[in-house]
Amino acid sequence: MKRPGAKAKAKARPAPARSPAPDGETALPPNKGPHPRNTLNELDGERWLFFTRSVLRTSYPREYGHDLRKRHGANKPPRLMKALVEFFTKGGQRVLDPFAGVGGTLVGCSIAEPPRRCTGIEINPDWAAIHAEVAARHPDLPPQEMLGGDCRALLADADRFPDGCFDFVATDPPYNVHLERTMCDGKYDASHANRRTDYDMRSGDPADLANLGSYGGYLDAMEEVFRLCLRVTRPGGYMAVIVRNAYQGGEYLFTHADLARRGKAAGWTPKGEIVWYQTGSRLRPYGYPASYVPNIAHQYVVILRKPPAGKRTAGKGPPR
Ligand SMILES: C[S@@+](CC[C@H](N)C(=O)[O-])C[C@H]1O[C@@H](n2cnc3c(N)ncnc32)[C@H](O)[C@@H]1O
Repeated sequence: MKRPGAKAKAKARPAPARSPAPDGETALPPNKGPHPRNTLNELDGERWLFFTRSVLRTSYPREYGHDLRKRHGANKPPRLMKALVEFFTKGGQRVLDPFAGVGGTLVGCSIAEPPRRCTGIEINPDWAAIHAEVAARHPDLPPQEMLGGDCRALLADADRFPDGCFDFVATDPPYNVHLERTMCDGKYDASHANRRTDYDMRSGDPADLANLGSYGGYLDAMEEVFRLCLRVTRPGGYMAVIVRNAYQGGEYLFTHADLARRGKAAGWTPKGEIVWYQTGSRLRPYGYPASYVPNIAHQYVVILRKPPAGKRTAGKGPPR
């Protein structure tokens, strides 16, 4: 016998989303709009389901000043950031990126449908200047706010950033302290095109997290940033942290897991991870033919949530 209300519940459930196409969302029909109980975003059930898959294989187009933004070796595709902000916010809500680089998150918020309001913080004026150039090339896009400086100093200012003033934090922090360049130093660059890289991410600023002396010091600084982000995020709001793991000194660093633990220590609740497979990553013969060294062709998007008002804080989850 059917329970009363069982039919209504079944109807409210979204139809299973079709298999994800390699080019992402384009396979989905027009957005039918959100479920009446959806307070998080403006997506219909199919889009909601599609976003929650834990592997992302999308290849993003080179657009919105990519020729300028690519000078930053870790620039993020605006469309990836658009997908994140469209899931974790509604139109017009406020997004923070404390490590904004050349502005992937800012452009993502401008092209989001409808646009979101973004504040980016970037310590290196060269990267902020590139974002300004990209914005000038695209006067059609809603402008966003880019602040220069150390995000720890700026976010500590409660007059400028009152408690809970942001709905979502979307960021892509430095992935470590500066790593020694092994297979792409001068000697190899000259003879092997597949070992060459044009990126120099170093800045002279001691407050740049990548200039810290050790991986432990980097994790401590990230925990401090996570605490500051927690204060300025509304209760129940989310944070997405994009990070690439590293192989260094003969050892693999699970940075995404270390950052998730530091986020939890700062009061966030870990909610999941998306593995972003970067199709077309260049393969280098690290270790060959003597030992296994991975060609890391993925990044993580680690998702954390600030506990909703009245809910217990993070830190009392399952034992580790
Ligand atoms: C991985 S990149 C972010 C790239 C960005 N997602 C984009 O699309 O361009 C990290 C950025 O954090 C910046 N950074 C490092 N330490 C910082 C600090 N203390 N405050 C603000 N920005 C900082 C670096 O200069 C770098 O541009």
